[in-house]
Amino acid sequence: MIDIKSYVNEQVKIISSKLDSFLKENMPSIVLDAMSYSVSNGGKRIRPILAVEFAKLCDGDIDTAINFGCAVEMIHTYSLIHDDLPCMDNDDMRRGKPSCHIAFGEDNALLAGDALLTEAFGLLASSKNVSDKNIIRAVSFLSSFAGINGMIGGQVLDLQFEKTKPTIDEILKMYSLKTCGLIKAACVLGCLSCNDYDENKIKAAIEYAENLGIAFQIQDDILDIEGDTVSLGKPVGSDEKNDKSTAVKYFGLEKSKELVKEYTDKAVSALNAFNNDTEILTQIAYMLVDRKN
Ligand code: IPE
Ligand code: IPE
Ligand code: MG
Ligand code: MG
Ligand code: MG
Repeated sequence: MIDIKSYVNEQVKIISSKLDSFLKENMPSIVLDAMSYSVSNGGKRIRPILAVEFAKLCDGDIDTAINFGCAVEMIHTYSLIHDDLPCMDNDDMRRGKPSCHIAFGEDNALLAGDALLTEAFGLLASSKNVSDKNIIRAVSFLSSFAGINGMIGGQVLDLQFEKTKPTIDEILKMYSLKTCGLIKAACVLGCLSCNDYDENKIKAAIEYAENLGIAFQIQDDILDIEGDTVSLGKPVGSDEKNDKSTAVKYFGLEKSKELVKEYTDKAVSALNAFNNDTEILTQIAYMLVDRKN
């Protein structure tokens, strides 16, 4: 059996050095410093790792999958920079360091997020080893999973549900948009690193990512209560401070922990659609259940 922790650590190094090299290609500025500060170090890189694993399952081009995955990671990082702003969750710590707006000011943090979002699409477009048709589909999937019908739509609901009492279906809808959105984008873009992609595999990738994402967000909400700031690298108690509506608030900790396992099992079942070896994606899913950050 593969040692999943060391395998993932190796992948994190490859992806992190790619992200650094993309950022270094730009004109120096305070906002570039803010972008690099937020992108580098501390992120789990789960989204690009998933992109690469789906590329492997689909016999895709790995360099393309790394590019695609890094584009998703840039959008994810922008979403975290903006999520921490005083007008959103107002959190002072991220990835074990002062949040971007604490280190660089709100003006530069806002622009660093904007620039990461914009550059992510430039990065997708620069992919050399796949057909233009694949790149166009990747752009289309990423914009819809990240935009108003995706991650942003979920963040809108997240804010609206502060101090209100949504139903559990509404909470799960919010999770599906704000968290599953970019995880789905990563898994689908991994499949699109193969010119000869298969629509059924894309559907299975979405099914895996949807269930994994729900488990991931419930676990995030559990860690917001049970975690410690040092391991998490971000403040605990943020959800209570902001009166957020979470699955944990709705169900309590015990039932929420069961749900994390149930959704993870569902994610793993979706991998039955692939003929290739799915051990790594299975192990990644179970590794996330036990995560401490
Ligand atoms: C945090 O995402 C935001 C959520 C969607 C819960 P991650 O837990 O993937 O954060 P990093 O990238 O490892 O910092
Ligand atoms: C954020 O959810 C999801 C995003 C789209 C950024 P949270 O607000 O719970 O994420 P953390 O806990 O700050 O990382
Ligand atoms: Mg938030
Ligand atoms: Mg937050
Ligand atoms: Mg959280």
